Amino acid sequence: MRTCWQAPFGTAALLALAWVGATTAQPEPPDAAADFDQSGLALVLRSPDGAATDARVARLLALYVPEGQTASPFLDAGAFEATFRGAIELDLNDSYRFSVRGSGSVRLSIGGNVVIERQELPAGHAPLSTDGEVRLGKGLNPIELVYRSPSAGDAWLRVTWGNDYLPEEPLPPASLRHADTPALELGRARRAGRDLASLSRVVPIEYAERWIRRSGCLACHSRDGAPASGPDSAAPDLTWAGEKLRSDWIEDYLDDRLAARPRPQLQGRASAFAGNAGLLAAGLHHQHGLAASPPDTDPTDQELAAIGRDLIRGERLGCHACHALGDEAALGGEGSEEAINFRLVRQRLRRPYFDWFLRDPQRILPGTKMPQFVDEDGYTALYDVFDGEATRQFEAIWHYLGTLD
Ligand code: HEC
Ligand code: HEC
Repeated sequence: MRTCWQAPFGTAALLALAWVGATTAQPEPPDAAADFDQSGLALVLRSPDGAATDARVARLLALYVPEGQTASPFLDAGAFEATFRGAIELDLNDSYRFSVRGSGSVRLSIGGNVVIERQELPAGHAPLSTDGEVRLGKGLNPIELVYRSPSAGDAWLRVTWGNDYLPEEPLPPASLRHADTPALELGRARRAGRDLASLSRVVPIEYAERWIRRSGCLACHSRDGAPASGPDSAAPDLTWAGEKLRSDWIEDYLDDRLAARPRPQLQGRASAFAGNAGLLAAGLHHQHGLAASPPDTDPTDQELAAIGRDLIRGERLGCHACHALGDEAALGGEGSEEAINFRLVRQRLRRPYFDWFLRDPQRILPGTKMPQFVDEDGYTALYDVFDGEATRQFEAIWHYLGTLD
């Protein structure tokens, strides 16, 4: 059911007044005059007593701060409050169901109305979702999220959206905008001045962002809707790298330790990386509200792997037309020169990304030749295996991929 956001959230807004108390500002009303011309969201971080504050730009409506670490070089480790502010920009009117996952407390307002509020987010990775869909208009829709870290454990937050025809995904960075503020300007100036106390506090999110912006990565790589700044580059888009790639793979890639490149047909690549690749990888994950990836120890289920082996054949789902299987070459489908050898997939990809990408490859990698095999209801055209349920078929393929190492 689609509900309009104006009506049902009045009481939630009053409750919000009650718990937020003195330390936080109320959701900012939509401000037509505000100049939301920067990408990402403005993020203000503060200590619980408000004595220390800092501001920077966040690419996504997400964060991850491991227990005992700090969210900002200008805050001590420990409890903090984070306020993300800006707007979601849309080309057309549309409705979305928003979900929040994480630890700690959260209050999400859209268009000036509180749509999600909880003192303690559900444990595990259970989502807290809006009551029905929230209507957004063409153009800029103000958004504000106030987050407070939990009293113990890692502090993390991920906000996703989706609707009947858009599988749930993180709010895409290319749709997020913010207006520059004096607080952000001060944050930039303090970083440029590299205040001594802050030098000892490394925040992986900021470390990754600094390297990517300063070492020419964006000359070859497009990201967050911005094209690569250099001359035509076929390098993969980096928007979802933090969701997509395993930490160990990113480290091996940046430190030039890969046994095999995924796209050997492409010439260029990053030149010798002089930084800390582990920290950069962790920072990319943290930007998306994810922990660095644990080692891939999923045991391979041989029965499922055999089903997967059958599914990828030419006359079945046909993945083998484009993808090589280890030493077995691809059968030569259109796009096979750009498809990645299946042997590398389990070394590279995080499992949730694998499922997400297969649902709608075009949405995640615009222009890719990787076809979509799943219909809107989550079925493939092969009804004789698991009644056509795509998630179960892809799980079998995942197990098969584990046999190619
Ligand atoms: C000269 C162009 C160039 C520069 C500069 C460059 N890259 Fe790349 N990058 C590439 C190419 C080409 C690939 C594809 C390599 C392959 O798959 O074999 C790639 C792949 C990657 C990947 C894997 C993405 C995926 O989805 O498979 C990551 C991560 C990455 N680069 C990060 C970086 C970072 C971080 C920097 C800056 C320190 C950087 N790159 C600088 C060209 C470049
Ligand atoms: C028409 C050719 C084609 C077919 C058929 C095809 N793919 Fe792909 N696939 C591609 C291309 C091209 C890419 C993009 C590689 C890139 O990121 O540059 C890709 C990427 C992928 C990736 C991401 C790999 C990585 O490491 O980044 C996965 C996973 C994948 N395909 C799985 C499948 C599965 C499973 C099937 C069968 C159900 C399939 N593909 C069928 C062309 C194809």
